[in-house]
Amino acid sequence: MEEYQKVASLSDIPPGKMITVAGIDRVEICIINVDGKCFAVSNICTHKGAPLNRGTIKGKYLVCPWHKANFRIEDCKAFWPAERSLRKFDVKVDQDSVYIKIPSNGKTSQSHD
Ligand code: FES
Repeated sequence: MEEYQKVASLSDIPPGKMITVAGIDRVEICIINVDGKCFAVSNICTHKGAPLNRGTIKGKYLVCPWHKANFRIEDCKAFWPAERSLRKFDVKVDQDSVYIKIPSNGKTSQSHD
């Protein structure tokens, strides 16, 4: 059974910013606030594995720090040189709490960059 787990406070992620949550399904996850809406994506670039939390957010895109691949945050679509979309996680926001859906055997621990 899948469930949502609180991973952050919305007030910690202002629009245009991201935080990193570690340890879910052994995948680090970036929680990104785009114009007040939160998205959760894998922290690993699908091109050569760069940590995307070291990249930049440009409008609705997350830009990889190594070779500048762009990922459209809303649907995780990749643009050159990356070819594969990012893994995406379901996010739910309730008042100031941000939750992500985790598998029943998943674990979370929180860290901020
Ligand atoms: S590792 Fe991200 S674009 Fe190459």
